[in-house]
Amino acid sequence: MMNPIPYGRQHIDENDIKEVVKALTSDFLTQGPKVKEFEEKFAAYVGSKYAVAVTNATAGLHLSVLALGLNKGERVITTPITFAASANCIRYTGAEVWFADIDPDTYLLSIESVKQLIESKPKGFFKGIIPVDFAGLPIDLESFRKLADAHELWLLEDACHAPGGYFIDSSGKEQFCGNGEYADVSVFSFHPVKHIACGEGGMITTNSEKLFQKLSRLRTHGITKENMKENHGDWYYEMQDLGFNYRLTDIQSALGITQLEKNKKGLLVRNKIAKRYKEAFKGVIKFQDLPENSYNAHHLFVIEVEDRKGLYTYLRENNIFAQIHYIPVHTLPYYEKIGYKAANLQNAEKYYSKCLSLPMFPSLLDEEQEFVIEKVIGFLT
Ligand SMILES: Cc1ncc(COP(=O)(O)O)c(C=O)c1O
Repeated sequence: MMNPIPYGRQHIDENDIKEVVKALTSDFLTQGPKVKEFEEKFAAYVGSKYAVAVTNATAGLHLSVLALGLNKGERVITTPITFAASANCIRYTGAEVWFADIDPDTYLLSIESVKQLIESKPKGFFKGIIPVDFAGLPIDLESFRKLADAHELWLLEDACHAPGGYFIDSSGKEQFCGNGEYADVSVFSFHPVKHIACGEGGMITTNSEKLFQKLSRLRTHGITKENMKENHGDWYYEMQDLGFNYRLTDIQSALGITQLEKNKKGLLVRNKIAKRYKEAFKGVIKFQDLPENSYNAHHLFVIEVEDRKGLYTYLRENNIFAQIHYIPVHTLPYYEKIGYKAANLQNAEKYYSKCLSLPMFPSLLDEEQEFVIEKVIGFLT
């Protein structure tokens, strides 16, 4: 019997450990020079002007909607096929979540569905859109930007699945997820199943200096030493907004930096794994449509099968721990309770009845992947 094969797994090596130990014996444990170094290296990696490290992506999403000025009672559109945090951040402010449907082939938020929703309401009804680079497939933010601009909406990219991914825009340029070219703000997660593991961790990127300053302030209680009304001396600071303690530590950042350095290599391996799955499943099993005009970060590899529960159970019996991404957010009991029971999101619900994420992580061995493919095809034929 094979050792258990999870759907995702962090990859920690000796160098990661060495750098964390170094951080532990330094003068800083919480926010110090390693946080700044991580922010600068991350911004350079994705091509954004600014980056703000935070406790986790959920905190990053929360700060982002606050910095974008979202208020109680306002409305924001997102996808139902995502982790709940993409929608929850809207609720934290007391604003309303409006779900648009997904594209049945790419599983990404459908721009047509968003457009229909916007056009069915009066001008000013919505404040923003939160598209997600689901499974690592970069969403076409150029088109979303055009739509957002036409309706004066902000654009917050949930890029948790896609550090290092990019799409090619209409001018032929590579647009890296989170580079700040089209989205106002983007958010990444460093949860261990993601590409870059910090234990917990997140990063917000933007090209707007104003948003950067607001995000930095909100991360630390709303406290600042810049642009103060008064100055009583070196000790003096001002709390200018109601903020939080959403700081990342130097220990986590030390790990984030070494993990980031490996991400390019990790993406190459993920793409190789995806290629093998695609070759094995072509014409046999439906998998996420992966357009050629983008570089996929492949956080997940998602297939659709009729007897999903049967396959899920069969794989578990064979020590393969496939997963479901995701239960549509509008069907979660909290969202049902607040009135989403009647939501008509047919593509999302149909997708959920069939989807299964297969093992996808850089340390997946060739023989393990072959075993997964053999078991999947064996079950279905
Ligand atoms: C799409 C998406 N958004 C947000 C989050 C939240 O990330 P974190 O666990 O870092 O708060 C996740 C994590 O699973 C995610 O997959």
